[in-house]
Amino acid sequence: SKKAVLGPLVGAVDQGTSSTRFLVFNSKTAELLSHHQVEIKQEFPREGWVEQDPKEILHSVYECIEKTCEKLGQLNIDISNIKAIGVSNQRETTVVWDRITGEPLYNAVVWLDLRTQSTVESLSKRIPGNNNFVKSKTGLPLSTYFSAVKLRWLLDNVRKVQKAVEEKRALFGTIDSWLIWSLTGGVNGGVHCTDVTNASRTMLFNIHSLEWDKQLCEFFGIPMEILPNVRSSSEIYGLMKAGALEGVPISGCLGDQSAALVGQMCFQIGQAKNTYGTGCFLLCNTGHKCVFSDHGLLTTVAYKLGRDKPVYYALEGSVAIAGAVIRWLRDNLGIIKTSEEIEKLAKEVGTSYGCYFVPAFSGLYAPYWEPSARGIICGLTQFTNKCHIAFAALEAVCFQTREILDAMNRDCGIPLSHLQVDGGMTSNKILMQLQADILYIPVVKPSMPETTALGAAMAAGAAEGVGVWSLEPEDLSAVTMERFEPQINAEESEIRYSTWKKAVMKSMGWVT
Ligand code: G3P
Repeated sequence: SKKAVLGPLVGAVDQGTSSTRFLVFNSKTAELLSHHQVEIKQEFPREGWVEQDPKEILHSVYECIEKTCEKLGQLNIDISNIKAIGVSNQRETTVVWDRITGEPLYNAVVWLDLRTQSTVESLSKRIPGNNNFVKSKTGLPLSTYFSAVKLRWLLDNVRKVQKAVEEKRALFGTIDSWLIWSLTGGVNGGVHCTDVTNASRTMLFNIHSLEWDKQLCEFFGIPMEILPNVRSSSEIYGLMKAGALEGVPISGCLGDQSAALVGQMCFQIGQAKNTYGTGCFLLCNTGHKCVFSDHGLLTTVAYKLGRDKPVYYALEGSVAIAGAVIRWLRDNLGIIKTSEEIEKLAKEVGTSYGCYFVPAFSGLYAPYWEPSARGIICGLTQFTNKCHIAFAALEAVCFQTREILDAMNRDCGIPLSHLQVDGGMTSNKILMQLQADILYIPVVKPSMPETTALGAAMAAGAAEGVGVWSLEPEDLSAVTMERFEPQINAEESEIRYSTWKKAVMKSMGWVT
């Protein structure tokens, strides 16, 4: 027997750096009905290089969709109630594929990858006009983080890519483009598009005109014909061509950090959220205005929820390593077997005992933008054990957030009164309490931490031609909030923070 009518359902793909998920929500209440998650491999072929297999990513999406649909079946929920699918994704990660064969021409070069450091150095010497050329158009500093330099590297170093460009067979995309093209048919009429939020992370996109920028493409030497069409974050791009959800429209697309902003309903100017994933990203809605930072933050497109809807911008503080430090302790040091164990270790000691861990594995992002930094663990004594190091790793995530929150407060003028958080790591209660202690403001977390997927589902459900999600607060009635209040005094908090800053200084200038 089929369960009573739930109202229309909406699915969301959340393709992150560490894992892929598919989740299905009730559009009337935002209740999460079912989901499935698959971890994604990361390859490190050389020091500083980070790659992923685009086909493994695509297969993981199909696998998550199929498994979630099976689980819904077991719950007697009819999958024909799924009216739309949204896509949210790790941003900047760069794929080039052949539109005739459908084959990727190289691995995906992941956002964390540092191979383009020398490209960045030589490009920064030839910036035309003034140093503001890239930042004023894109909102971004010239950095290894963004797609343009990764694409430049592929064009310079991979013969297959060069050949496909010459033969007009090459297509470029961030993960959203690769997935949407593949899911909507691939070689059989796949739609080659991206949305404004993902486009704004390529360093080729003019965030004022909302178009690919000819001068930037010339500067980076990128052929414009390989770039995807830029669309809004909420409109029907195409239909699923295979699998259990064949025929369902894909109608939402947002970079994962933008999706989390939407999922947290940060629609007003000054509203902000911090998502703890592989990295950690604090975004503050600045409305229709591009605000440029004086303190190392990025200006980025927040969302544009419909073809005729206005664009919203955000200031962003990006931290490269958050959850990734836990994975490193698991995979590289082996001091934990599962990521969840970190909480147990940290709880055993309740302090780092003077140990500080700066996980600058990919240099330091905001607010420093220092590619020469490398990770350090310092303040060790014979007393230090793995529990202290585990604690220091969690504290590092909180200190890095404090640094970007401070920058945000300086840029915005009005300090945030509390911090809205989400993402996988927020289920760690020690982390949440530490975060409140280190920021010295309350930390507020939704009961359902999958806010990124929720945002993508909301965008998909609200699209013209779908219209099952109204984006009003009552549509989130299933989401409740948990609050963590600071428990240590401000003075103690400041002392710990200033010691952290000393450790950061030591991590810089490591590679010359
Ligand atoms: O900019 C990179 C970001 O989008 C990655 O997000 O969740 O995989 O850490 P996440």
